[in-house]
Amino acid sequence: MSKRFYLTTAIDYVNGQPHLGHAYEKIVADVIARSRRALGEEVFFLTGLDEHGQKVQQAAQAEQQDAQAYCDALAADWQRFATTLKLTNDDFVRTTEPRHKEVVQAILAKLHREGHFYQDTREGFYSAREETFVTEKERLPDGSFPAHYGEVVKLSETNWYFKLGAHQAWLIEHIEKNPAFIQPESRRNEILGFLKNHTLEDLCISRPAARLNWGIPIPFDPAYVTYVWFDALVNYISIPAAHGDPVVCRALGISASGIQLWPADIHVIGKDIVKFHAVYWPIMLKAMGLPLPHKLLVHGWWQKDGAKISKSTGNLVDPVAIINEWGLDAFRYYVVRELEIGPDGNWTDAGFAARYSAELANGLGNLVNRSLAMLKRYRHGVVPARHDELKTNAEDPTAIVRQFLGNLDPAYFSERLGVVLKTTESNSISLQLALVNIWHLVTRANQYVDQTAPFKLAKDPAQSSRLDEVLYNLTETCRVLAVLIGPFLPETSAKIFAQLNLPLETKLSAAAWGGLPAGHVIGEPAALFPRKDQPKK
Ligand code: ME8
Ligand code: MG
Repeated sequence: MSKRFYLTTAIDYVNGQPHLGHAYEKIVADVIARSRRALGEEVFFLTGLDEHGQKVQQAAQAEQQDAQAYCDALAADWQRFATTLKLTNDDFVRTTEPRHKEVVQAILAKLHREGHFYQDTREGFYSAREETFVTEKERLPDGSFPAHYGEVVKLSETNWYFKLGAHQAWLIEHIEKNPAFIQPESRRNEILGFLKNHTLEDLCISRPAARLNWGIPIPFDPAYVTYVWFDALVNYISIPAAHGDPVVCRALGISASGIQLWPADIHVIGKDIVKFHAVYWPIMLKAMGLPLPHKLLVHGWWQKDGAKISKSTGNLVDPVAIINEWGLDAFRYYVVRELEIGPDGNWTDAGFAARYSAELANGLGNLVNRSLAMLKRYRHGVVPARHDELKTNAEDPTAIVRQFLGNLDPAYFSERLGVVLKTTESNSISLQLALVNIWHLVTRANQYVDQTAPFKLAKDPAQSSRLDEVLYNLTETCRVLAVLIGPFLPETSAKIFAQLNLPLETKLSAAAWGGLPAGHVIGEPAALFPRKDQPKK
C-alpha cells in the first residue's frame, strides 16, 4: 500500500476557547489537505489537543475542576469548533487518550533501554507558565525575566534528561542539505543560527509528580511524569501507530499492518514553537530510528488592531462570532488571502469588511450572479455551444494554483508564461498567491462582461451568436472558478455547482476548460455573498 500525504497541525492547549490564531492555523492546514486531495493524492490530516502539563492543570484548578473532567468539557467545544470550520481532518487526537499515552510510554521505555536518558539534579530558575527552566542569559538588563515566562522561581530538582550532544552536527547538516525542510527561509536561518552558535543543552524530559501530576507517568520511574512537550510531539506518530502505520510500528516493535503515514509531509506550526519542531522533534525521531518529516511550514502570528491578541486585555477576535455574522467562507477567505504563510498579520474589522465587499460580494459573487442570471434571462438557462475566448485566462491561474499548492510543473512556466522558477520555489507553498491568481480570473471575467456588454447584445437579434459565445465563456468561467476555489471556500464552491445544476467536482483536473456541456440547463442563481453595506441595527 502506498504512503498517504500526511499533514498535521500543532495540537492546541485546552486552557480556554479557540481564538483567531488557532482558527487560522487549522484553516491553512485544511486548505492544504483539500488541495492535495484535489491534486489526486490520498491525504491524512491530523489535528487535536494537547491536554497535559502545568498550563492545563492550572486552568483546571482555577475553575476548581478535576483536570480530566475539565479537558473533556473543553475538548467537546474544540471538536465542535473543528466542525464549524469544516475541517476535513481524518482523526482528532487528545493526548489523554490511551492510544496516545501507550505510545509515549513505549518510546520512553525504548529510549531508556538504549541509554539515551540519565538522571541529574539541577538548580535553576523555572517558569511554570512556559514549563521550562530559564537561563541566566535570558535576564533583561533590569534583572527580570521576559514577561512571557510569567512568574519565575528558583528551584532545585532531580529529573531525567535526554542526551542531545551527539545530535547537533547531523541536524545542522540535515537542515543545510534540505532547503525545503523549514519554510519560510527566515525561520530556517533562525534555527541554523541557533544551532551553529549554541551548544545544545540536554533536554529535561520529566517533571516530579509531587509538583505536577497532570502528565503521563514515566514508565521506568513512577515518581515522575513526562514533560508536556515530549508527550505532545509524539502525537504525530502515536496516531499513525494507532492506525497501524508499518514504519512507526516497526520502530516501536509492534506488529501491525495498516495505512502508512509516516514520515509526515507537512507539520503546520506557529513561529513560537519552531525550536521544538526543528530541534527536539528531529532528535527524538532519530533516536527512535524514524525518518524525519519532510517539511515544517511555519506561519506568523495574528494581532488585532496592531496589538497582541490577549484574553486579559480583551483584545480578541472571536472566530465563531465572525462566522455567524459573515459566513464561514468569508472568514476562510480573509485569513488566507490577507496573510502569507510566514509573516505576522493584523486583523482589523474594516480590512475584513473591505475584502468582503470588494473581492467576495462585488468580485466573485457579482460575477457568478450576473453570469447565471443572464443565461437564465437570455437563453432560458440552456448552455450554448462551446467557445474558447477566456480559455487561456482560465488555464493560467489553474497552472499557477497547482504550483503554489506545491505541485510544480517548471516546463509549463518557462514555456507558457516565460517564468523561470528558482529551485527553492519548487517546494514553496503559497495559498495567498494561489488566491491572488484565482482572483485575476474573477477580475478578468468581470471586465469581459463590461467589455462585451451582453445586455446590449441581447437587444440586437443580429448579435445572437455573439451573445451565445459570451454566455458560454462566462458560465464556463464560473464552473472553472467553482473548482479552483474548492479547497479555500468549500461552501461557495458547492453553491456554485448547485446553481449550475452540476454535481460537485473536487478534483483540480475538472478545471480543464470546456467541461460545461452545450445544452445543459443550469439551476437557480442566488446571491453568494449578500451585500452588507447597510449600517448594522
Ligand atoms: O503551543 N496567531 O499550543 P497553543 C497565529 N500545545 N497563531 C497562533 C496565535 C496567533 N495569535 N496564537 C497561537 C502549543 N497560535 C502547544 C503545541 S504541538 C506538538 C504542541 C498558534 O495552544 C501557535 O503558534 O499555545 C501554535 O502553532 C498553535 O496556535 C497552538 O498554540
Ligand atoms: Mg502558545
